[in-house]
Amino acid sequence: MKKSLAIMAGAATLVLSSQTFAASDMDLWVGSKIYDRAFGRGCATCHDIATNPNLIKNIKDGSLSFSKFKETITNGKNAMPKAGAAIDAVGKKKGYTGDKAIKAVYDYLSAGGGKIKKPKK
Ligand code: HEC
Repeated sequence: MKKSLAIMAGAATLVLSSQTFAASDMDLWVGSKIYDRAFGRGCATCHDIATNPNLIKNIKDGSLSFSKFKETITNGKNAMPKAGAAIDAVGKKKGYTGDKAIKAVYDYLSAGGGKIKKPKK
């Protein structure tokens, strides 16, 4: 009896934590706004050019983890400007700053990018 309770508690924890990590519609929408508007012209002005890294492709093929993504955003890399402040500047109106804002952009790109409808709530 005790053992089965422990197993049930473990299962409940798993369900809860997977909900915590799943991107909400709001996360995806704010992520799309940041991607479109950061630096005024958006990330795509550089990343839609074939010679620069294709972020969606790299996330999908597993070569761009969240920690590598965050590291490049935070510190910049060669022609890639530091983007933390630019991301916060767009995200903060919706309460997205720091890791939460970077994660929203990552989740948006993981979901394939494109146009996201503003969520009702
Ligand atoms: C001025 C052009 C420019 C802008 C604007 C820009 N990037 Fe970049 N980005 C680059 C270039 C160039 C690289 C490649 C850097 C290298 O590896 O030498 C890069 C690399 C990256 C990487 C690493 C990709 C990988 O697979 O290693 C990430 C993540 C990234 N950019 C995210 C973003 C995000 C998010 C934004 C918008 C907030 C953005 N970039 C805006 C030019 C830009």
